[in-house]
Amino acid sequence: MRINKYLADAGVGSRRFCDKLIEEGRIKVNGKVCTLGIEVESGDTVTFDGQQVSLKNKFSYYIMNKPKGYVTTVKDDKGRKTVMDLLPPNVGRLYPVGRLDYDTEGLLILTNDGDLTNRLTHPRNETPKTYLVKIEGKITESNLAKLRNGVYLDGVKTNKATVKVVEEDYKFTKLHVTITEGRNRQVRRMFETVESQVVFLKRIKIGDLTLRGLDRGAVRKLTQEEIHYLKNI
Ligand code: URA
Repeated sequence: MRINKYLADAGVGSRRFCDKLIEEGRIKVNGKVCTLGIEVESGDTVTFDGQQVSLKNKFSYYIMNKPKGYVTTVKDDKGRKTVMDLLPPNVGRLYPVGRLDYDTEGLLILTNDGDLTNRLTHPRNETPKTYLVKIEGKITESNLAKLRNGVYLDGVKTNKATVKVVEEDYKFTKLHVTITEGRNRQVRRMFETVESQVVFLKRIKIGDLTLRGLDRGAVRKLTQEEIHYLKNI
């Protein structure tokens, strides 16, 4: 099989994108940088930036645009809908990476790769997560500064955050907020400390990974490039 087809079938990206990776010398076959157009056979070892690419990947990785009204657990005692209900059939056992509240929308990763889950959720790694936050009314500069510098939740100060106002009208303010922790209902509770009520919350990014055209409720496999990115975030 042509190397670019092999890479594309393994989920690295489009054939054209894979050609670019080959030209950049990032693909090796059996330890040697390969050239455009070579053929690979079963038994060959193909790597992308040193990580093995396989047609039979052991793990599965999905990205979902979670709608509100779903819990981020595998089962719910109260019988509510769970994000598992949105997955295509036959994906096997997958687990959500971190949590989004019942009323929160947006980017959720699901995988059976425990190492990646730990990596993305371990507080030490401070993985940046960006939210679109809509609050009632306006927010003062001094309250923005408080949110940026850290506020106390359960007696523990939050890490520094990036907080930007992106839209304002007479009734609501929209902000982009990037936090590096994943404490329970963190964004909502941060805004409560400055007397602001969050009326809409959506995770729009994990690191630089975005929802990029994924409709509300839709799910797709992550590409090999995206998986590689998340493993090295
Ligand atoms: N912060 C919250 O308050 N809720 C979420 O779901 C995620 C972050």
